[in-house]
Amino acid sequence: MSGGAKRAARVARRSPAEIHTLQEAGHIVAETLQLLHQHIQPGITTQELDNLAEENIRARGAGPSFKGYRGYPATICMEIEDVVVHGIPDETQLAEGQIVGVDLGACYQGYHGDSAITVAVGEVDDERQRLMRVTEDALLAGIGQARAGAKLREVCRVIQQHAESAGFSVVRDLVGHGIGQQLHESPQIPNFVAEGEFADYELVLQPGMTLAIEPMVNAGTARVTVSGDGWTVRTADGRPSAHFEHTIVITDNQPLILTNRGAT
Ligand code: MF3
Ligand code: CO
Repeated sequence: MSGGAKRAARVARRSPAEIHTLQEAGHIVAETLQLLHQHIQPGITTQELDNLAEENIRARGAGPSFKGYRGYPATICMEIEDVVVHGIPDETQLAEGQIVGVDLGACYQGYHGDSAITVAVGEVDDERQRLMRVTEDALLAGIGQARAGAKLREVCRVIQQHAESAGFSVVRDLVGHGIGQQLHESPQIPNFVAEGEFADYELVLQPGMTLAIEPMVNAGTARVTVSGDGWTVRTADGRPSAHFEHTIVITDNQPLILTNRGAT
């Protein structure tokens, strides 16, 4: 989602029955991402991947969360190379050596799951490989801090620290978010800590809160631009970007990763 104005976070806490439904939504998202991963190879078009995703989500009795959201026209967002987020599927073919992110959401019985992966098309160079690994590890480090009693600030801080200590930059213009009956709920979850911009840093995490944490990490500058279609966000310097996202629920112990894919 897009970052925005300061506001107090009122964050829902889900009941066990709601968490059960969210788990189903998360499972459908994870399974669909795994299916797309299997099809990611040189020559496939992003529209073909979108069709596969929509069919799979509907076959499982769910619906695409993104399609129609603020007018977004597709089921998935495709993030090829310097596309950070919100790339619209079309007739573009994937090519050897690229890194591509796929972001998707599914709504099952009124509850949303949201997750993203970035994967290689064939063989990619060492920098791209490292960018993907650092971004996924930053997400996992953030999830590791997402425990009842912790402040949201700790999640944001560890993600930023992980990405920047590897020599990369975190995108500032887009943030993670609460999730549940809406795709985007409170709190906002920046992948960085900056004084005063977000009231939500002080939020104390509580069991039942459901969060979509999504670091977007750039090889070069953190700055991004939005293209003429009004959606596609690219790095300002044209260097590659990686994106990983999970939907999690805070528990009394380790958070539960609702969009876990198991071993890929
Ligand atoms: N995971 C992204 C987000 O939370 C994708 C949203 S795409 C949109 O912002 F089309 F739904 F906006
Ligand atoms: Co999201």
